[in-house]
Amino acid sequence: MTLTTKPRGTNDIAPGEIEFWHELEERIRRVCSAYGFQELRTPIFEHTELFQRGIGEATDIVEKEMYTFLDRGQRSLTLRPEGTAPAVRAFLENNLGAGSLPVKLYYYGPMFRYERPQAGRYRQFVQFGFEVFGSADPLLDVEAIMLPLELYKACGLSGFEVEINSIGCPECRPNYRQELIEYFEPRIDGMCSSCKSRLHRNPMRLLDCKVEACQEVLAGAPPIAKHLCADCSQHFSEVLSYLDALGVEYKLNPRLVRGFDYYTKTVFEVTSKELGSQNAIGAGGRYDGLVEELGGKPTPAVGFAVGVDRLLLALKVQGKLKSEETGPQAYLVHFGGETKRRAAWVAHYLRSHGFWVELDYLNRSIKAQMKAANRLNSRLVLIFGEEELDRGRVIVRNMQDGHEQEADLQELEQLAKMVGECAK
Ligand code: HAM
Repeated sequence: MTLTTKPRGTNDIAPGEIEFWHELEERIRRVCSAYGFQELRTPIFEHTELFQRGIGEATDIVEKEMYTFLDRGQRSLTLRPEGTAPAVRAFLENNLGAGSLPVKLYYYGPMFRYERPQAGRYRQFVQFGFEVFGSADPLLDVEAIMLPLELYKACGLSGFEVEINSIGCPECRPNYRQELIEYFEPRIDGMCSSCKSRLHRNPMRLLDCKVEACQEVLAGAPPIAKHLCADCSQHFSEVLSYLDALGVEYKLNPRLVRGFDYYTKTVFEVTSKELGSQNAIGAGGRYDGLVEELGGKPTPAVGFAVGVDRLLLALKVQGKLKSEETGPQAYLVHFGGETKRRAAWVAHYLRSHGFWVELDYLNRSIKAQMKAANRLNSRLVLIFGEEELDRGRVIVRNMQDGHEQEADLQELEQLAKMVGECAK
């Protein structure tokens, strides 16, 4: 059973679907280069401590979702559950902040979280994320929202919504935490076990609890707005005014808090109405304290990550994933023996000129080879008959109109030209 079954929460991306991934990856590269981002590739696993320190000990991810193991040298390593902490580590380790600021980096690849799998929630999933280091400019918070919106739009996605909030900074949060604890304490008996366990450790996280029984209490919880310090408050109002000026629609959600300890000030999430409970197709925020927390100089930063699997799911529901008809430019039909050798030689020549060329490897009859060419949707069929070969020629049949002509096998350049013409 385990030999032919993939681990729970993982996916194969087979032909028929991989083409959509390739197209999306191409779009990601295009939008990133328009915004001046360069790619960063970090290891799939990191020292466990990076995530404990970076994401925070009292978060769901660190408490229960990490794939952590000891390697043969007894080092604790963890498959990366997200890309921000590794990006900060790489930024520091490679001294990427030494040049001009801000530094804009993007990454694309698999992340791992031990979550309960369901539609849109996997244990291995792909994120496209990006991080900007070295500026506290609120315009960058806004660009961190606009870049993924550009991507969603370029893919043809509609019906998504941006939610935004400010969760303040270490200066304004203590008072808010206290107010939350005072509000929740007398009501905690009716709340879920996870809210109970977090009340004193991380009371802000109660705000995004999804358990039905907690919703009534949550609806009455005080918002952070009146606790924001002057700096956070000014920053947030500038973010909102840039969003307005740039025509970006958003919804203020005072309960948006996000599941990572590193965020400061602005946090945002984009949801798609096509997806059920796992409806976030991307999220991010500002994290001005993380670089310092991980050993660097104080460096403001902001970023975002798109859930690529979920984006493709939403596009699929909206019927935006259309496969294009493809097929080889030429299928080479042969009769075995010397004709196969010549066909192999021509196939090699045409492939080296960039054409997609197929031929028979199953010693099938001519009829079966013609059928195979048809099934593959080949534009041309090149027939290597013995009699034609004796004359140094090959038959070229256009599969669209059935027209046939001969080509000279001494003039392979001519033949390549002919294949190129028909392939248009
Ligand atoms: P996150 O909200 O944990 O943020 O993940 C970002 C996106 O990844 C989610 O909105 C969702 O689309 C996708 N995602 C998360 N978990 C899963 C899963 N189990 N299965 C499928 N898709 C999933 C972060 O990871 C932050 N590092 C984002 C960030 C970058 N903040 C600043 N810079």
